[in-house]
Amino acid sequence: MSQNVSGLRLEDLEIKPHIITRLKGAGIESIFDLAISIPHQLIEDGGILTGADTHVALDIVMKAKKALIDSGLLARDFSTAEEILERRKALIRCTTGSPKLDSFLKGGIETQAMTEIAGEFGSGKSQLCYTLCVTASMPQNKAGLGSNVIFIDTENTFRPERIHQITENRGIKEPEDILRKIYVCKIFNSGHLELIIQNLGKSIQDYKAKLVIVDSIISLHRAEFTGMGTLADRQQRLNNMLHKLIRLAEVYNIAVVVTNQVQSQPDNFFGDTLRATGGNIMGHASTYRILLRKAGRDRIAIMIDSPFHAYDQTRFTITERGVQDVEENRASSKKTEPEW
Ligand SMILES: Nc1ncnc2c1ncn2[C@@H]1O[C@H](COP(=O)(O)OP(=O)(O)O)[C@@H](O)[C@H]1O
Ligand SMILES: [Mg+2]
Repeated sequence: MSQNVSGLRLEDLEIKPHIITRLKGAGIESIFDLAISIPHQLIEDGGILTGADTHVALDIVMKAKKALIDSGLLARDFSTAEEILERRKALIRCTTGSPKLDSFLKGGIETQAMTEIAGEFGSGKSQLCYTLCVTASMPQNKAGLGSNVIFIDTENTFRPERIHQITENRGIKEPEDILRKIYVCKIFNSGHLELIIQNLGKSIQDYKAKLVIVDSIISLHRAEFTGMGTLADRQQRLNNMLHKLIRLAEVYNIAVVVTNQVQSQPDNFFGDTLRATGGNIMGHASTYRILLRKAGRDRIAIMIDSPFHAYDQTRFTITERGVQDVEENRASSKKTEPEW
């Protein structure tokens, strides 16, 4: 899939100039941004168009989509299975740093998809994200994405020193070159996160990123929207963010990785079980859902939802190199962990 987006401008569509001005004022600067906009949101949230302009909102979004379809950048509403397969050939996979975890993921983290990493505090979600920052910066012939990375940090846990350490220990000569490729956005509240995700299309183009990480997607909304009365609003906001992210993944051929928390769920038969937060909305939006569990010094990754991976689990560890395979000698001497 070509990513030459420079030739596609809003001005090339048949849209009235004053509407283009309003779109740009609301951060919708390219045909890509417009194509992934939700028409009714242009009216309600953005205030870009007034209520009477429902048909205009629909019309301009359809025009933008058509322009992308005509350029071969976006799949038609109905495509043959062969066409979809062809489009999927453009997808790239990025190593996680652990060959075992990669083969568990059938080759690594994928573009055109959103991968959710759920787990308890300290289960290694952020460590996996940091390792991906380093591996994604590597060229494609070294199992990377050969691109820059956008890291959206909502928990204020991003540590450049740790990235530096992972880079050095992976034998990369100039860790600073990797650090320069990672664009970090520190988020202050849920509204800020929504705004950043709303305008992410432009950032992906500006920073030439093929990996977007949101660590974590839901913690701020969970902290701010407490009480049953706010649940529907919170889920709607989460839904909007997730759908924007998945559309960005498809349109820009990028990998999106989001981390999520888990809740302990009392279960009559099996004692407490762990569930990823966010309910059905989270479950339906993620292409792949991986649950991380601590297992002594190691970690176990479990595929909880995937269109084509069978239920499976694998083991990896976290060291100064970031995520990696459990060493052979440790693997042979370890006690067997109970399946769960
Ligand atoms: N430099 C390091 N070397 C080895 N292990 C580390 C290092 N830094 C962090 N870890 C491991 O990662 C764990 C924290 O994982 P983290 O990804 O931050 O958790 P979370 O799932 O809450 O994001 C620590 O408990 C430790 O086991
Ligand atoms: Mg974390």
